[in-house]
Amino acid sequence: MKTPRVLIVGGTGLLGKALLEATPEGWEVSATYHRNAPPADWRHQCYAMDVRDQAAVDALVVRVRPSVIVHAAAVGSVDEAERDPARVGEVNVYGTQAVGRACARWNARFVFISSNAVFDGRCPPYDEEAPLHAVNRYGALKIEAERWIQQHGPSDALIIRPILMYGWPPAGGRDNAVTRWLRQLEAGQTVEAAEDIYSMPLYAGNCAQTVWAAIQRGRSGTYHIAGADRVSLVDFARATARTFGLEERLVVPVPSHRFAGLAPRPADTSFVTAKMERELGVRPLGIAEGLAIMQRLRAAVL
Ligand SMILES: NC(=O)c1ccc[n+]([C@@H]2O[C@H](COP(=O)([O-])OP(=O)(O)OC[C@H]3O[C@@H](n4cnc5c(N)ncnc54)[C@H](OP(=O)(O)O)[C@@H]3O)[C@@H](O)[C@H]2O)c1
Repeated sequence: MKTPRVLIVGGTGLLGKALLEATPEGWEVSATYHRNAPPADWRHQCYAMDVRDQAAVDALVVRVRPSVIVHAAAVGSVDEAERDPARVGEVNVYGTQAVGRACARWNARFVFISSNAVFDGRCPPYDEEAPLHAVNRYGALKIEAERWIQQHGPSDALIIRPILMYGWPPAGGRDNAVTRWLRQLEAGQTVEAAEDIYSMPLYAGNCAQTVWAAIQRGRSGTYHIAGADRVSLVDFARATARTFGLEERLVVPVPSHRFAGLAPRPADTSFVTAKMERELGVRPLGIAEGLAIMQRLRAAVL
């Protein structure tokens, strides 16, 4: 049997890195990057590619000939999307269309990584059938990308909606809540965290596990992926401090309106994870488990 080949678009992101690390035995993976070239000793085949360039996407797909493409590339900054939705839309919507078209043209399964930001946070918990309504431009662009896939993309496309992710990003990669808090706490600085925003923080490795499970089981449709615990951001920051042996008292609860100037965030987009558990067979990790894994891996990233 031919070795199944998967192309990860956005292999230098938090999820992209976790996907590469979780590659199942017998699968061949390659990955793309955009600005952040991976180190020379990277053991994965990698290619520079800009998803805004349809010809470049097509050319790479012809070269690699993957049977599955995981599109995990995006501009992930919610605030950047609010400031410049047209520029971010070129990557997050047009780029998604470019990858989706290439999948249809070259007969590859399309796995699109969407977001919890497609929900407004007013009626949690959200299952996969809940109506979409975003409170910010970032979420609106994700809805636009999903709608394009449903109307024009391959009919067997898989849409994965992860919630707030944390983990060690690749060198030069974007910070996430935990890595930002750790830097501040280790410098003895206070961490202000919202007491009125709730989430189900998702360890990136746990998300990668679900994506691979969905690929291996040939799933299509939409899946909500989240961790096991629904917590406020301030409790998540306190758990981070505790796990890493840092001063919990440096974590200061503040109302989210304190972060004026940032794009609005949904108050609580908690997910129903029943479909993830039932159909993908993956157990959501609690924050104590995910943070403990990060703590153990710390030596490897320092
Ligand atoms: N992180 C979260 O909390 C979270 C939550 C829900 C959903 N998501 C979604 O999950 C997906 C992965 O997120 P992440 O946090 O892993 O992202 P990330 O760490 O910010 O990485 C983004 C990736 O996209 C690539 N990229 C950016 N612009 C590109 C372009 N024009 N052409 C090609 N590649 C480009 C980056 O490449 P370079 O670094 O090489 O430039 C990087 O590999 C995204 O779709 C995001 O919306 C994330």
